[in-house]
Amino acid sequence: MSARIPSAVAGNALKCLGKLDVLARHELTHSPTPLEEMPNLGRTMQGAKLWIKRDDCTGLGMGGNKVRQLEFYFGQALANNADTILITGALQSNFARLTAASACKTGLQCHIQVEERVPNPSPLYRHSGNILLSRLYGATFHSFPKGEDEEGADMHLEEIADKLKSEGKNPYVIHLGHSHPPLGALGYVVAARELLEQIAHNNMKIDEIAVASGSGATHAGLLFGLRTLGSSIPVRGICVRREKHLQHPRIASHCNGIAKILATENPVTDNDIDLNDDVLAPGYGKINDAVLEAIKLTAHNEGIILDPVYTGRAMAGFLNNVRHSDTSGNLLFIHTGGQPAIFAYEDDLTPVLSDNIE
Ligand SMILES: Cc1ncc(COP(=O)(O)O)c(C=O)c1O
Repeated sequence: MSARIPSAVAGNALKCLGKLDVLARHELTHSPTPLEEMPNLGRTMQGAKLWIKRDDCTGLGMGGNKVRQLEFYFGQALANNADTILITGALQSNFARLTAASACKTGLQCHIQVEERVPNPSPLYRHSGNILLSRLYGATFHSFPKGEDEEGADMHLEEIADKLKSEGKNPYVIHLGHSHPPLGALGYVVAARELLEQIAHNNMKIDEIAVASGSGATHAGLLFGLRTLGSSIPVRGICVRREKHLQHPRIASHCNGIAKILATENPVTDNDIDLNDDVLAPGYGKINDAVLEAIKLTAHNEGIILDPVYTGRAMAGFLNNVRHSDTSGNLLFIHTGGQPAIFAYEDDLTPVLSDNIE
């Protein structure tokens, strides 16, 4: 792999990857995840050459991008001899579900703080999908009434941790606020290396990558990893949580944070941070027509299920771009998982499905 890195960046790459490989990490991911073509979906897009990296197939707990991120959090938690892990997230949080699954695998207790990010959730949204799985994994739940108060959610999480400490536990907190070191983003620095190895192995060229940009850990880690390894493939973050003018500084700050953890230079420039929020309305977790169309098209043409919150929206942004760009190159979509949430959105999906009954 290092032979393929241009010499100008090799020093930085080796320094960065050297540190990456010695950081506390607990392997949880089935990898490499498949890199596949989507020929049928491509045909519906005027013959575009569409590819997908199946990070929904990371294995543990029904898979998704967060498994890669959790390797570094659990690495640190286990190194600290933690016996309990705490996380905060929306009712249908994939991160919380996968933290609960990882806790089962590593023998830790899991506490989930549930934030009310989506107004007036239906009974299905409250009880099905990810929340059902987290309950199956035996997590303990706490509630936090606000949905857009990251600092407040973290402070409340610390209060729960303090209470656990007073009961003799040794808790480890996965913080939400972006002022904390972006440990999880390292999972996508690792993924960037994996992807470049696959591209080299298949002797192919990828001209553009699209990925969901939520907390920004996946987007920032991938971008940082690619640039550190000398790849200039454009990475387009599709905003799923907040508008691009708010997301841009988060990605920049995550990249600085990654550089700090890895004690290396940050190779990501402002121009590298490309965001698209065309399909974000009406807001986080709320479905729109483009998302519904993307979920249906991908299922019908490739047998691949996307979720309504992250990957359905990211695919809608990706396809929007494919329709409006004139590139004849290979375009790659990173499937970051999230499928369990589809069951919580049954009420939105059912009306747009046609029954083929004979
Ligand atoms: C399925 C899925 N895809 C994408 C994302 C966005 O990833 P990130 O928070 O690293 O930006 C999330 C975040 O929870 C997710 O659950």
